[in-house]
Amino acid sequence: MKEFITQMPKVELHLHIEGSLEPELMFKLAQRNKVDLPYSTVEEVKTAYKFGNLQDFLDIYYAGCNVLIHEQDFYEMTLAYFQKAKEQNILHAEIFFDPQSHTDRGIALETVVNGIRRAMKEAEAWGISSGLILSFLRHLSEEAAIEVLMAAEPMKDEFIAVGLDSSEVGNPPQKFETVYNIAAKQGYLKVAHAGEEGPAQYIWDSLSLLKIDRLDHGNRSMDDEDLLLELKNRNMGLTLCPLSNLKLQVVKDLRNHPVKKMLDLGLKVTINSDDPAYFGGYMNENFIATTEALNLSKEDLKKLTQNAVDVSFADTGRKVELLKLIDSYFN
Ligand code: HPA
Ligand code: ZN
Repeated sequence: MKEFITQMPKVELHLHIEGSLEPELMFKLAQRNKVDLPYSTVEEVKTAYKFGNLQDFLDIYYAGCNVLIHEQDFYEMTLAYFQKAKEQNILHAEIFFDPQSHTDRGIALETVVNGIRRAMKEAEAWGISSGLILSFLRHLSEEAAIEVLMAAEPMKDEFIAVGLDSSEVGNPPQKFETVYNIAAKQGYLKVAHAGEEGPAQYIWDSLSLLKIDRLDHGNRSMDDEDLLLELKNRNMGLTLCPLSNLKLQVVKDLRNHPVKKMLDLGLKVTINSDDPAYFGGYMNENFIATTEALNLSKEDLKKLTQNAVDVSFADTGRKVELLKLIDSYFN
């Protein structure tokens, strides 16, 4: 089964590009840019990467972002992700970036976007299609999110959607209703993290107030049968992240992960890596660990992969191409 998963064509829909920054590259950039890090060896980093909850992780993740300064740094980080994607047979990836983690340190938005987009275009030549999602930090104000959206307007064509991430509890969807309305008027698709640590109500509010086209995480919909039905009726895509959920203690054991139950309920669930450099694995590792813990069948793996194509923001032609490749792999 491991070999089967490794060779399987994959589509990734929930990946924070800053969360793909491996310790080795972090050290290299820290040295090149003369930035101090709170660790001096990869061993020390690995010890620091033990998280009790989402906030523990975010504190370390934002500190890691400080080594990214020049366009070349964003390019190298993104290219490293796509090299991994190529190794793991990922054919399409929709990736988040957090503009505010960089613009708040005085880095120009263009620097960030140009570096990331240059690597995306290079990956396109290897046959990997991708899209970039501009994500607002929900622990900051809505005014700050609106500022980012305005600054991004001249480069609007570089992005496929807006998103919402960072500390969930206490920063509910209604805080961002206005900026999502403006984004909708500008023609953006919309996604949001909800129900990772926050309650099912945050998922309801992401649907009704933010009018999302896809739901990131959504684990806590399991607490609310009406919500599960609503998600199913809407054909709403859910981007689940099993190893992330384990590392951030959203689930205590992967055997308790809801992905299989959701799949059996007919929800459009997908498996993703979230922040692979921090959570112990990319797509292959997520699929392998989840398959072992939940005894997923090849039929389940096929459905998860087809779901990812269906709920992706790829154009119709690319979707048809991807579905054909999946079909021929599983037949
Ligand atoms: N949740 C919320 N915000 C994030 C995450 C996450 O898993 N990763 C990066 N920002
Ligand atoms: Zn995430």
